[in-house]
Amino acid sequence: MDILSPIDIGGRTLRNRVFFAPCTRCRADEHLAPHALNALYYRQRASMGLIITEATPINSEGHGYPRTPGLYTQAQIEGWKLVTDAVHEAGGTIYCQLWHVGRVSHNAYQPAGAAPLCPSATPRKNDVLLPDWTKAPAPTPKAMTLDDIRRTIDDYGRAGRNALLAGFDGVELHGANGYLPDQFLRDGVNQRTDDYGGPIENRARFMLEAAHALVDAVGASRLGVRLSPSGVFNDMADSNPKATYGHVVQRLSDMNPAYLHITEAQESDAKHGRATIPGYEPIPASYFRPMVKCPLVTNGGFTLEKANHYLREGWADSIAFGVAAIANPDLVERFRTGAPLNTVDPSTFYGGGEKGYTDYPFLPVTR
Ligand SMILES: Cc1cc2nc3c(=O)[nH]c(=O)nc-3n(C[C@H](O)[C@H](O)[C@H](O)COP(=O)(O)O)c2cc1C
Repeated sequence: MDILSPIDIGGRTLRNRVFFAPCTRCRADEHLAPHALNALYYRQRASMGLIITEATPINSEGHGYPRTPGLYTQAQIEGWKLVTDAVHEAGGTIYCQLWHVGRVSHNAYQPAGAAPLCPSATPRKNDVLLPDWTKAPAPTPKAMTLDDIRRTIDDYGRAGRNALLAGFDGVELHGANGYLPDQFLRDGVNQRTDDYGGPIENRARFMLEAAHALVDAVGASRLGVRLSPSGVFNDMADSNPKATYGHVVQRLSDMNPAYLHITEAQESDAKHGRATIPGYEPIPASYFRPMVKCPLVTNGGFTLEKANHYLREGWADSIAFGVAAIANPDLVERFRTGAPLNTVDPSTFYGGGEKGYTDYPFLPVTR
């Protein structure tokens, strides 16, 4: 078994174990809906066993970056249909990563200019990117009321149903990288004293309720969940990451989802590198392996050799590639033939058009 061998995910056989990691590209249209260029980009990458889309807000409060495509209006559902049709025509499988940024937002994104939502009124240190691409200091968020929580959980369920209407094969709950479910999980942010704060059983409640809402909407066999136990992106910290994530991984595994996606990356943005951050030891996927009964996907700085090593050791069942898949639409063919990889251009990660998006070269066709 290697990275090019098939894998069963949620009752469906995928043609290889090279997954496209979710990558925000900030290229939606002015209605925050996907369009033809986005469909071409995903279609180009359809030979990867599973495409996990860029993070996609479940409601208007879930946005925190310019031009990110949502999944809560009819125009967005129709835009995503262009994408899923294109990927399916090319024989691919595609899950939508469902997102709520929580405090990683600004009043400029929020309905009626309100403060962004967070489990507690704990601002983060870094600046926020505004809709017009300028930067501003992160505002103090509003601690969510129980009504805010119920409403948001309902919106996860609605987004799951919209994902099916849009033709997705499944959804990935974005529980990683310091966004809303992760803000609930970690005690560096969550200072609540009610049923959603304090002991880990309470801090995990929001993520598990969101996952249950998605199981109700799409079924467990169409649900993946992404976690980042080693991540410090978005000013995140936890006093005991092994215990925190050990608990949530076991509870999610009990739901028998399509897969769990546990990234080893410390920063979600490859620009910041993957050097160990002092005081925060990365936890390898192998630590969680014995707790995970469903397929386990991992990610973070993988080469072909490292990917096959992880699969052979049984530390993961498939590997998600971010930067390499952005720069190499035919990553699978390059792995198959041992061809060199294109170099990525990080200046075109976020925003813009075709450049650095749909114009990365394919290998010449030799047969
Ligand atoms: C441009 C860019 C956008 C990203 N957007 C997302 C995202 O929307 N959701 C997410 O969970 N991770 C996101 N990430 C993190 C990647 O999924 C991945 O974890 C990271 O790039 C490390 O994997 P790699 O070494 O294979 O690139 C992004 C990374 C990059 C470089």
